[in-house]
Amino acid sequence: MAILLTGGAGYIGTHTCIELLNAGYEIIVLDNLSNSSVKALNCVSELTQKNIKFYEVDLLDATNLENIFKENTIDAVIHFAGLKAVGKSVETPLHYYHNNITGTLILCEIMQRYNVKRLVFSSSATVYGVPKSVPIFEDSPLNATNPYGRTKLMIEEILRDLYIPNEDWNIAILRYFNPIGAHPSGRLGEDPQGIPNNLMPYITQVGIGKLDKLKIFGNNYPTIDGTGVRDYIHVVDLALGHLKALEKVMSSPGVDTYNLGTGRGYSVLEIVEAFERVSKKKIPYEIVDRRPGDIATCYADATKAKEKLGWIAKRDIEEMCADSWNWQFNNPNGYESSKNIHLIN
Ligand code: NAD
Ligand code: WQD
Repeated sequence: MAILLTGGAGYIGTHTCIELLNAGYEIIVLDNLSNSSVKALNCVSELTQKNIKFYEVDLLDATNLENIFKENTIDAVIHFAGLKAVGKSVETPLHYYHNNITGTLILCEIMQRYNVKRLVFSSSATVYGVPKSVPIFEDSPLNATNPYGRTKLMIEEILRDLYIPNEDWNIAILRYFNPIGAHPSGRLGEDPQGIPNNLMPYITQVGIGKLDKLKIFGNNYPTIDGTGVRDYIHVVDLALGHLKALEKVMSSPGVDTYNLGTGRGYSVLEIVEAFERVSKKKIPYEIVDRRPGDIATCYADATKAKEKLGWIAKRDIEEMCADSWNWQFNNPNGYESSKNIHLIN
């Protein structure tokens, strides 16, 4: 069974590659490497002792994308490829809409042409915008608040529209909450370019001494200690969720949406404490103004994924912090400093 992973060289993609290879799937990765390194795929190949077929192709390049479908018999697609920085999406909205939406349209057109109609799509909890209540259910109101979030919302709608006249398509839309953590080997992890926007890579870079102190964006939210609360999920649990979603799209037609989260929220200060406990590193911080666009609290109700996919997140917050730290400690400069072992393909 051959699975095409668009964006498969990225953070969530590489962790999913590992789990797919370990489960016996054949994988084909497409990535333009705009936010990733081929070294990550070499690590996947080394860790699994399996080959990966890799195409350095941009989703917007319809000719080369089509060639991948010509050259391979593809059973299903997991569509990770996309730009994901909220702030950048506000600065360059057309770039975000074009990359994420046009890229998805081109992909779906070619899939349709080659009769590949099983798709797992990376959506995000960001489509819920400012939640009216928590936990958030799949049918809670949707209201993205920035161009990045709107690309996810629009793609979700495109996929639902695609299904209406094409009931032989099988589509799973996965709304991830806040993925953190890394592969337990310490060889794979999140490798943001420049100063991290997200909490965990910022904390680990303070831990390693690359950044002085964490800036906590506000301590006057209506939460347990005033700092923002999120549903952090270990990236390996998230990767395993894709295997379950894949089984679903292999077996039953339809388009359905699933929250992938733990169902439990942690505040920024709770994350700092958990990280300090497992890393034995002090994380100095200061409280600064709220970050525009941030919400107080966000966590999932993940019952649907449990009941319909048979998936549940198993790794706790300490394991998430320990694995994030293990990756950062062993790769202070991300893949730049990781050893290159052998070539894929
Ligand atoms: P990532 O940036 O590490 O991976 C995305 C990959 O897509 C990168 O390797 C990038 O080079 C590639 N890519 C982007 N545009 C492309 C294009 N036009 N053609 C080919 N390749 C392209 O991000 P990630 O954290 O692994 O996220 C994967 C998916 O999950 C994204 O769609 C993201 O929006 C979504 N998501 C991520 C998070 C998160 O916090 N990490 C949360 C919710 C949803
Ligand atoms: C978590 C908490 C911050 C950094 C983002 C995207 C979302 C999704 C996941 C893709 C918040 C606080 C953070 C820092 C801080 N991505 N924080 N200091 O904002 O929940 O979600 O990533 O779909 O779309 O918006 O995640 O990690 O940035 O923030 O105090 O330096 O940490 O205020 O409460 P967020 P995050």
